[in-house]
Amino acid sequence: MDEVVVSRRADGATELRVNGVFVMDDVETSSERVLAEHVLEAGAREVLVGGLGLGYTARALLDGGATRVVVAELHPEVVRAVAAGAGAGPLDDPRLQIVVDDVAAVVEALPASGLDAICLDVDNGPDFLVHPGNHALYGADSIARCAGALRPGGVLAVWSMADSAPLRQALAEHLEDVTGTAVPVLLQGRDETYWILSGRRRSG
Ligand SMILES: C[S@@+](CC[C@H](N)C(=O)[O-])C[C@H]1O[C@@H](n2cnc3c(N)ncnc32)[C@H](O)[C@@H]1O
Repeated sequence: MDEVVVSRRADGATELRVNGVFVMDDVETSSERVLAEHVLEAGAREVLVGGLGLGYTARALLDGGATRVVVAELHPEVVRAVAAGAGAGPLDDPRLQIVVDDVAAVVEALPASGLDAICLDVDNGPDFLVHPGNHALYGADSIARCAGALRPGGVLAVWSMADSAPLRQALAEHLEDVTGTAVPVLLQGRDETYWILSGRRRSG
């Protein structure tokens, strides 16, 4: 059983930790928002998000004109914290549905070709897992399932702490126009780069 803590730090920031490991805070949230902007710019309006976190991706999708946003979040404690106002919350919006479940299970249950986009931000990326069980989510079989749930032209976008050749390869097996978008961030005075790796379902 994971220990999930959303708490206020001494510096006033809100942070999310799982099993004592830092997941994110509300100080630098640009890459979470870029994840949403990436699929909105591709025309996405009906979107599945894997991982609520502090709600910044979901908030950006709603603010950017998405018509339906389903968020799958593993931990009910995270959903409760955002509903109580942590991070970008509360996210009271009739276009939003939050499902407490593993996003892998939600993807498996999706009808074929029904979504404009899937945004995955459940972990630190394939090479830095907080939840070891998420390993398979970044593999070719999982990418194939995500691709099957997208409409032709739909986009799968994955947040990652680092660029990942294996993830790019898994994306390229099932999607076209695979790209990596570098997102510069300033973390406690240090310049870092996060990544959005994405691909598009073939149109024809
Ligand atoms: C980095 S945070 C997401 C940040 C989010 N994009 C935001 O804007 O705040 C990762 C979230 O994914 C959740 N999570 C981890 N594994 C998951 C899974 N397999 N399915 C659904 N949610 C998961 C974690 O509990 C955490 O809330």
